[in-house]
Amino acid sequence: MDKLQMVGGTSLQGEVEIAGAKNAALPILCACLLADQPVVLRNVPDLQDVRTMLKLLQEIGVTVDFPNPGDRSHLVLSAAVIKSSEATYEMVKTMRASILVLGPLLARMHSAKVSLPGGCAIGARPVDQHIKGLKAMGASIKIKSGYIQAETKPQSDRLKGVSILTDMITVTGTENLLMAATLASGITILENAAREPEVGDLAELLVKMGAKISGIGSDRLVIEGVEKLHGADHSVIADRIEAGTFLCAVAAIGGEITVKDCRPDTLDAVIVKLREAGLKMEIGPDWIKATMQDRPKPVNFRTSEYPAFPTDMQAQLMTVNAIASGNSTITETIFENRFMHVQELNRLGADIAIEGNTAIAQGVEKLAGAIVMATDLRASASLVIAGLAAQGETQVDRIYHLDRGYDRMEQKLTLLGANIKRVK
Ligand code: EPU
Repeated sequence: MDKLQMVGGTSLQGEVEIAGAKNAALPILCACLLADQPVVLRNVPDLQDVRTMLKLLQEIGVTVDFPNPGDRSHLVLSAAVIKSSEATYEMVKTMRASILVLGPLLARMHSAKVSLPGGCAIGARPVDQHIKGLKAMGASIKIKSGYIQAETKPQSDRLKGVSILTDMITVTGTENLLMAATLASGITILENAAREPEVGDLAELLVKMGAKISGIGSDRLVIEGVEKLHGADHSVIADRIEAGTFLCAVAAIGGEITVKDCRPDTLDAVIVKLREAGLKMEIGPDWIKATMQDRPKPVNFRTSEYPAFPTDMQAQLMTVNAIASGNSTITETIFENRFMHVQELNRLGADIAIEGNTAIAQGVEKLAGAIVMATDLRASASLVIAGLAAQGETQVDRIYHLDRGYDRMEQKLTLLGANIKRVK
């Protein structure tokens, strides 16, 4: 199993290019199932989760081509032939985003069998809202032997447009129902829809494929179903979480970096909090120049749905707070178990206590290197930042979590001057 070894204390200098967003690319890859014509995708990040999704789509029958050898960000997917409507337990257990094939398969093939995802390290993460919405659209759904077995009845029938109000805001739930609704008969209204930019990016691709969607970017999506979608060409939106992670890195470690090819307009809540922490930022249309000379100031924050502060940035900003010049409180409202990095940060000398869904951080002047273990994707990123801000040597174990969602993170950090290497 790979590990990352690093020696802290060198400030970051230079430029870093941001890849396409993992959480936009995953539903977008699944959207290709909705048409029998090729879909051209650009700016797809080269990540383990993307490779897993491509493998699942290939099992279903999708052909995947990389037109330019050596460029894995440019793909052509063709779902001309669907040979299986199933996502097995083996696939879903390695990546719960596999659930995103359910809506498109059901809409196009009128039946789908997808393993029910189990719990996960950051929370229980049920998919009841996906199921409730598809049932409201006329699907008959049974849970049998750990699988969601869904079909329209009679099987030749399309899903039906209907108004759906989800009990809570769910990102992949909105995406599944949105994709299903594009091929339904009649009008579907998704109330309480997630407004995350990744949902908007998926909707933009679907429109290019011929879907009729209004309200993109709002919490009310109106979809007029069409009989068929066609091919399209789309570039995946920049990853706001990768950009935010590098901004937290420079806030904690110090230095001056330019984050390029990003979408500052999707990072408002993160920018507000990092400014409070003392990070100086000059912002262009697709870049942010960030400078940190002093010790960070503590910032209180709570996670919430977009456009509020993202849960996927909670661990990274907590690392900044760990070495801030005072105390802070961090409240996690999306996932019930997303504080596993706290014990590991404390192993590096942080002083963070947990009370229910709130972490209370007493800023310490310096962290000290140690061996720590990554427990999930964003936790891994927070530990890498902490290790590079700490004195001495740090080793982060189990970085397969990091590889699921960051495109060559240690190479990008090396280019910024960090002393970090991957060991087998
Ligand atoms: N929820 C339910 N029932 C449902 C759906 C969700 O109770 O049917 C609950 C969840 O348990 C959670 C809350 O609603 O407490 C929100 O979950 P959501 O469905 O929005 O999360 P998700 O769609 O499974 C996506 C991202 C996550 C990100 C969350 C929140 C993808 C592939 N994943 O997950 O990304 O944290 O939205 O923004 O888009 C990551 O990239 O590290 C990551 C975990």
